[in-house]
Amino acid sequence: MRSDEIRSRFLKFFEKRGHAIIPAAPLVPENDPSVLFNTAGMQPLVPYLMGGKHPAGTRLADSQKCVRTIDIDEVGDSTHCTFFEMLGNWSLGDYFKEDAIRWSYEFLTNKTEGLGLDPTRLYVTVFAGDENAEKDTEAFDIWKKVGVPENRIYFKGADSNWWPAVKNGKDSWTGPTGPCSEMFYDVTEKGLGDMTVEEYNQADAKQQVVEVWNDVFMEFEKKEGKIVGKLAQKNVDTGAGLERLCMVLQKTDSVFDTDLFDTILGKVNEFSISDDVRVKRIVADHIRTAVFLIGDGVLPSNTDQGYVLRRILRRAVRFADVLGMKHGSLFWLAGAVIEKFGPVYGNLSEKAEYIKKEVDTEEQKFRKTLEQGLKEFNNVTTVQLNKQPFLKMLDPQAVFRLYTSYGFPFELIVEIAKERGFDVDDLAFRRDMEAHQSLSRAGAEKKFKGGLADTDEMSLKYHTATHLLHQALRDVLGTHVQQKGSNITAERLRFDFAHTAKMTDDEKKKVEDIVNEKISAGLPMQVVELDKSEAEKVGALHFFGDKYGEKVTVYFIGDSVQTAYSKEFCGGPHVKNTLELAGPEGKWKFKIAKEEAVSAGVRRIKAVLV
Ligand code: SER
Repeated sequence: MRSDEIRSRFLKFFEKRGHAIIPAAPLVPENDPSVLFNTAGMQPLVPYLMGGKHPAGTRLADSQKCVRTIDIDEVGDSTHCTFFEMLGNWSLGDYFKEDAIRWSYEFLTNKTEGLGLDPTRLYVTVFAGDENAEKDTEAFDIWKKVGVPENRIYFKGADSNWWPAVKNGKDSWTGPTGPCSEMFYDVTEKGLGDMTVEEYNQADAKQQVVEVWNDVFMEFEKKEGKIVGKLAQKNVDTGAGLERLCMVLQKTDSVFDTDLFDTILGKVNEFSISDDVRVKRIVADHIRTAVFLIGDGVLPSNTDQGYVLRRILRRAVRFADVLGMKHGSLFWLAGAVIEKFGPVYGNLSEKAEYIKKEVDTEEQKFRKTLEQGLKEFNNVTTVQLNKQPFLKMLDPQAVFRLYTSYGFPFELIVEIAKERGFDVDDLAFRRDMEAHQSLSRAGAEKKFKGGLADTDEMSLKYHTATHLLHQALRDVLGTHVQQKGSNITAERLRFDFAHTAKMTDDEKKKVEDIVNEKISAGLPMQVVELDKSEAEKVGALHFFGDKYGEKVTVYFIGDSVQTAYSKEFCGGPHVKNTLELAGPEGKWKFKIAKEEAVSAGVRRIKAVLV
């Protein structure tokens, strides 16, 4: 079933059940300055979920355009996109759990009106209960009644079955909220059959089951992350990612292999000399997002939404070059996006020429500095290699110059640096950014990072956690473990290291236990300036060479640099004591969220403090 058919079946199904089909809201929220883009279908409806009267009534459905850039560096894998469509139906104080669940089930499984998915491949989760709300036995009973066997209904906690989910113990959500029930579909060839909750969790981790829909029962209100009571009305908010549904129904291994990308990737393939699938996907994704953004009135600029668009387009230009496309190709790629989505989103067809022209103008603008910037890049790396052959960290001043004078978006600098065997010090960059806060870009940069005021505080925690992790990995796996790369956001740390084998669960657990033990030991993080030879003598780790000449700064975790658990050449900054990693209430634990290969002999860990 093609994407157009899925979208229109969804809307027809709910129209028949009394829902008004409302047009998708523009990607840029109209009255909500706290976010740059709509990131979920319900976002434009918040005032109505809070009790406001919607002109179209109390039953609504739509297909909402969303943009999320937080995982931009994951685009190119099988599921991440910066633009996606979310199908949703809403009850504003009208029906509640009974109808919401029954219709979800019917739409997913009914062959004539719905998607005709195999009911024996369906699994659902419901809320297990906590101090905020009781165990959702009502949803459990309804699922049973509509036909899902009870051993395929799992009770799960708030981290997965509450919306919005609380991530890393941080919650600043203000608005409607509630427990949710999620539907998963078995995409394995043989079929998984009955599973215990442990088996189900494993299947989920291995992406053998894919989340296809989420029903949120919104009857609570949060202010600044705290439940302040019940709403005046009970609402339903559902969301199904169209890209995921297409993947499941079209039995493809990635969203990029669904029909949503056929026209766009067709053009990308036609124009490319290289066969790099990941890079092709990035270009296709970015151009699609750019077209929708311009269609909704955003233009490339140096602030807020405009700057996000600029970054996306400039990244697309650079990757188009990597694929060997001719200059000016983005104009035609934009045309392919409009050809595909214009019939559904009329504004794209109406503004087709304007959108293509704006894409082209930004490409030309970036080309004016791209070539010079790449020359500058070559100069910097050549000079650095001659002067300090073992220094892998790119001169932070050069990084900042590429950013300010040549218009290179930060992650592009990181990517190009990596291609040439260099690392970029993102904390130094952030420090430089802060020093230049008067630049309007700085505001956009912060929002781009997720709009968190305390971004820097979390980054410090993750930076210190990275040092602990590094040492713990050496303890558990051996001293061949060396840092190969590190990237820190307010949400997580990402650490690349030399090691060939996949880590076993036991090894991961050991590493987590060590890090958590060091956190709860409340060890001081201290810094000392030493002669390089002295620092080497005490065994301080240094894999990026030394960026401070003969004198180096060594950060160590413990009472003295001689006996410290971890010691590394590093520029900081860090927390003062490892206890800070346990969060304000001392409850957070260090957890490895993912461990995977990134290239031959290099593994990648993503870890969180939750
Ligand atoms: N708001 C919920 C989500 O984004 C359901 O639409 O998953």
